[in-house]
Amino acid sequence: MLSTRVSPKLCSPQHVAKLGRSVAPLAHGQCLLVYPASGRLSCTAQWQAHHRQAQTPRSFSTTSANQLRDFFPIKETKHIRETPPAWPHHGYTEEEMLAVVPGHRPPETLGDQFVWKFMRFCRWGMDLATGLSSEQKSDKKNPTTAVAAVKPLTEAQWLTRFIFLESIAGVPGMVAGMLRHLHSLRRLRRDNGWIESLLEESFNERMHLLTFLKMCEPGWFMKVMLLGAQGVYFNLLFVTYLISPKLTHRFVGYLEEEAVHTYTRCIKEIEQGCTPKWSDPDFQIPDIAVKYWRMPEGKRTMRDLILYIRADEAGHRGVNHTLSNLNQKEDPNPFVSAYKSGAHPPNAMAKPAGYEREEVM
Ligand SMILES: [Fe+2]
Ligand SMILES: [Fe+2]
Repeated sequence: MLSTRVSPKLCSPQHVAKLGRSVAPLAHGQCLLVYPASGRLSCTAQWQAHHRQAQTPRSFSTTSANQLRDFFPIKETKHIRETPPAWPHHGYTEEEMLAVVPGHRPPETLGDQFVWKFMRFCRWGMDLATGLSSEQKSDKKNPTTAVAAVKPLTEAQWLTRFIFLESIAGVPGMVAGMLRHLHSLRRLRRDNGWIESLLEESFNERMHLLTFLKMCEPGWFMKVMLLGAQGVYFNLLFVTYLISPKLTHRFVGYLEEEAVHTYTRCIKEIEQGCTPKWSDPDFQIPDIAVKYWRMPEGKRTMRDLILYIRADEAGHRGVNHTLSNLNQKEDPNPFVSAYKSGAHPPNAMAKPAGYEREEVM
């Protein structure tokens, strides 16, 4: 199935010496760590060349180790020093990030049931494509909340999942924002604050993707799958958002439940020491992430990074379930509104099932 040559990045000169053949040098003294790809949408991470098994998994990647490259080298120009994000991240406290928990909004209507089942089907396909064994799956009866499994995922399996998930997750906010923008233009109506939140959500998801792509280079098969998935997913969402924006936001709410679940399980496995590469003191997360989330010194481990990303996903989950509960044509976006009582806008992160309309209108 899908392939990847995943290549978690950035190592010190000592690491280069330690890792030998499994690194590819880049400019500025950095290097990519090469994770040989295996079959399916997964890849088999192997940290040190001398640990390689005699039976090397088949690589679908067309990129040889010495051709690995930095996807987004900084574009040097004569006058520009740097280009900060147009939507700066608002940041989180550690307490806020640690308070995030997996959650599930039980379907209430037939439409909810349908999109929930469809999300279950997508998750099944994702597990299949990333080559999850039955021992690596968590409790099927509580698929969105249970994070315990017999066997952990490898770093390469995680990265493959993250990249596929994030490349999909960046689409709905853009489609919904675009359609609401066009609706406002042609119907000569105000939008009441939805468009900016939706576009910012898609921007945020793209930052997640760019961060993981700094650690990993997908092979050609995965690139083709991403292309195909986006073609199908964009058009599907375009049509469904025109027919029922309510159900589309519910679907995205369920997608975000999956994202929170995925990252929660990953954090747990990092804490349990199941991902030794990411626990290595020399492992560095990408600069793009440090700058975007403004991660403080001493809080820049892979676990810290996933805590930030999970918090973002929890926000998307609460926002989309709430938007689904609102009147799509009339209601303002509660998350950017000022309240008559002087109260703060609702906190989407703290509400896995979203707010009901009467709570926020
Ligand atoms: Fe994301
Ligand atoms: Fe998300």
